[in-house]
Amino acid sequence: MTLDFRYKLTARNDLLSDGGRRPRFFIRTYGCQMNERDSEKMAGLLVQMGFVAAQSQDIADVVLYNTCCVRESAEDKVLGHLSVLRRQKTERQFVLAVGGCMPQQKNMEQLLWDKHKYVDLIFGTGNRHRLPEFLWRVIEGGERVCDISEGDELPEIGDIDVASREYAFKAGVNIMYGCDNFCSYCIVPHVRGRERSRSVKDILEEIRVLANDGVKEIMLLGQNVNSYAGEVNFSELLKLVHDVEGIKRIRFMTSHPKDFSDELIAAMRDLPKVCKSVHLPLQAGSTRVLADMNRMYTKDEYIALVMRLKEAVPNVAISTDIIVAYPGETDDDFEDTLDVVRRVRFSGAFTFIYSKRSGTPAAERTDLVSRKVANERFDRLTAELYPIMTEINEAKIGKVFDVMVEENGRGRMDDHTLVHFIATQSMTAGEIIPVRIDEAKTFYVTGVSV
Ligand code: SAH
Ligand code: SF4
Ligand code: F3S
Repeated sequence: MTLDFRYKLTARNDLLSDGGRRPRFFIRTYGCQMNERDSEKMAGLLVQMGFVAAQSQDIADVVLYNTCCVRESAEDKVLGHLSVLRRQKTERQFVLAVGGCMPQQKNMEQLLWDKHKYVDLIFGTGNRHRLPEFLWRVIEGGERVCDISEGDELPEIGDIDVASREYAFKAGVNIMYGCDNFCSYCIVPHVRGRERSRSVKDILEEIRVLANDGVKEIMLLGQNVNSYAGEVNFSELLKLVHDVEGIKRIRFMTSHPKDFSDELIAAMRDLPKVCKSVHLPLQAGSTRVLADMNRMYTKDEYIALVMRLKEAVPNVAISTDIIVAYPGETDDDFEDTLDVVRRVRFSGAFTFIYSKRSGTPAAERTDLVSRKVANERFDRLTAELYPIMTEINEAKIGKVFDVMVEENGRGRMDDHTLVHFIATQSMTAGEIIPVRIDEAKTFYVTGVSV
């Protein structure tokens, strides 16, 4: 079937583009690593169909937006860019496709269908593997297509298609899909469906293929990786991945504090390839707010978990996500968030102002925090976080660390610290080299390779 598509599409190039050149695609990705990985898979499908990647959307025959709706701002960005494309569509011919999480929301696909008639194809996260069929219907059949039906089980197409990966030396590998946690503010379980774990065999096979292809770093992906429930649990999976030859570093995200077991802490301590960095979303410091959010841990439990981790894994870097101004958050609640920030000393943080998402329980709340207070809290939070992050980086000055090269003069430490370095010789991406750190900033350090 794939071959059919390729030959037919290449043969009908004239439909899309001038004189016999191969049709080009451009994918713009919003949102989390899950979406980034999905985009790589869809790029793999498009390459199989005979398309080549375009450097810019302005010259692409198929423009695909892989969207996110976790916050209103994410959606606004998509809608803003769509209006630019709408104007472009009056000037030249191309196929415009919108996929990902946004159309998965209740009523959204209808809204896109009715109000954004220049969009040729609307599809979802559960049927992204049908992209070739959908495009075929648009291009060959002249149809406008809207389909967000769920597949039974997503066939993991494109996972081992080397052509579709963005980086040669590192790759994300989904170990699970969806989320069952239903945090009160969050749209993800509503748009990504229930938690499904992939089989150990599939995951390991994919990682072996990647390793053979030169990949050195694997990021195990899921909304809540430590609730992985395949034939083994997550700690055991880490051990199996650790045995794959050629892989030098293993990362994972995201971890939910409620499922971070002592067994996992021990695995991080004992497995040298597992990087000493954990992304551990706090969301809020107040136990009352955490209960409201349905996070299933208390402030003290979170702090105790971090202390156990720090004790078992010296110099472990803890990064986090924090939401300010959740409905009903008082000054005292917010002080609890600042207190956790001071005690844990995060090495990195994504900070957000609460954003109402229709269809979530929190969207029913009327005790909203004013915009003014939300902004003040946001600023106070970053004023607390950033000096700590700088101090953590300053402690690295004068020391030598192993850095995995990502591109010329840029790489990452085991604990994920970004390093800009001066190289004494040329290096290839994926190589691990020693770098002496000489300067520290909030978001990165600089050094010289030794
Ligand atoms: N599964 C991951 C995170 C997924 S979404 C986890 O549980 O940590 C990424 C981050 O977006 C969340 O950690 C949260 O901090 C933020 N977020 C999610 N919904 C939000 C909302 N409605 N308003 C503001 N931030 C939100
Ligand atoms: Fe959203 Fe919570 Fe699931 Fe993370 S764990 S994706 S915040 S519902
Ligand atoms: Fe956004 Fe969907 Fe990820 S809503 S954060 S792209 S799962």
